[in-house]
Amino acid sequence: MTDTSAFRAPKGVPDYLPPDSAQFVAVRDGLLQAARLAGYGYVELPIFEETALFARGVGESTDVVTKEMYTFADRGDRSVTLRPEGTAGVMRAVIEHGVDRGPLPAKLCYSGPFFRYERPQSGRYRQLQQVGVEAIGVDDPALDAEVIAIADAGFRTLGLDGFRLELTSLGDDTCRPQYRELLQDFLLGLDLDEETRRRAQLNPLRVLDDKRPHIKEMTADAPLMLDHLSDAAKQHFDTVLVHLDALGVPYVINPRMVRGLDYYTKTTFEFVHDGLGAQSGIGGGGRYDGLMRQLGGQDLSGIGFGLGVDRTLLALKAEGKTVGETARVDVFGVPLGGDAKLVLARLAGALRAAGVRVDLAYGDRGMKGAMKAADRSGAGIALVAGDRDIEAGTVGVKDMTSGEQLDVAVDGVVSDVLARLGRIRLV
Ligand code: HAM
Repeated sequence: MTDTSAFRAPKGVPDYLPPDSAQFVAVRDGLLQAARLAGYGYVELPIFEETALFARGVGESTDVVTKEMYTFADRGDRSVTLRPEGTAGVMRAVIEHGVDRGPLPAKLCYSGPFFRYERPQSGRYRQLQQVGVEAIGVDDPALDAEVIAIADAGFRTLGLDGFRLELTSLGDDTCRPQYRELLQDFLLGLDLDEETRRRAQLNPLRVLDDKRPHIKEMTADAPLMLDHLSDAAKQHFDTVLVHLDALGVPYVINPRMVRGLDYYTKTTFEFVHDGLGAQSGIGGGGRYDGLMRQLGGQDLSGIGFGLGVDRTLLALKAEGKTVGETARVDVFGVPLGGDAKLVLARLAGALRAAGVRVDLAYGDRGMKGAMKAADRSGAGIALVAGDRDIEAGTVGVKDMTSGEQLDVAVDGVVSDVLARLGRIRLV
């Protein structure tokens, strides 16, 4: 039998509770806001999709598809999968709703949970949160630079600065197949163990990402895609760099970058934070020019990113920074007596209607307990009243920082509080 007193969140799944959750929300909203400022429209998409969408979209040979998907048969015996990433679902929705027949590029953004059955560790969760954008239908290097600059700006507006942008080009249809062959020939000429050899045959790029020192050493001279780009892919990449320079976005070129998803072409990038240990990627993305066709749509290009909200939060912590509201409310009501409770509850309603965050002490805990609760709430203002004050028609308005308290007529409390908070009362 299950011991119901010992329920725990599923392994590798974080909970966000106050006060930390305020930071989580601030990170998510801050990253989304950077996308909105560049005209990306919000999409809310299903958390599960038909399994084949991810198998075909993300790539049959990726770890994400072979080892990490939450796949199950629903009650109608359809194979469905909790989304491991956002791009395939966005493409499905764009094709299904004909967004690709409208004005291009279609600029879309999203946020929410994704699911990967990875081995949990610090910064690696089985339910992870991302903010993402996708710009679909225009193959313009200036758009690549815009997408990258949005992510950079998003991180910076949160106050993060200990990260670097790594960038490369994975080439296009005209140069990648030849490069793949070249790399494969090189790798198969090495003295590799059975499994690595198999990987070299299936997905040779992945071998360049092998962290084992002896493999690293053997592949140190491996041919690099960046040295074998077609003229068009090279020009595309060079123009991205010119734009990034013009936008003042710093980057380092990492020609050995390997991403965990198969759809990438041309510009590919990752944001790396050194304060996070092994799970250092706080965001990543790139171009995926063949994906839409692959999923049964038109042959349109696309570029986007996914930024890890959980990891961005950890990176801010590693830098000793906080974001978001630290106070839970602006005003805290301390009623001492039944009449006072009625009046303060009414004032709380009026203040909330004016957009002020208000909480009250409940449970008749007495002056000391209630003032402690006011302190803990982080409110800058307390409204303190006993029944005798109410009889006299006043409420004590206390500045929680200076400790100064003034009696204010009940009818004037809302205006007084709004003035103290620096908000103008609109009548
Ligand atoms: P991704 O690199 O697989 O790309 O994930 C993007 C970000 O999500 C990572 O950089 C990381 O911050 C976060 N992330 C991934 N897995 C985990 C995990 N297990 N725990 C915590 N955080 C994690 C994509 O998902 C692509 N769809 C991005 C994209 C959009 N490319 C083009 N458009």
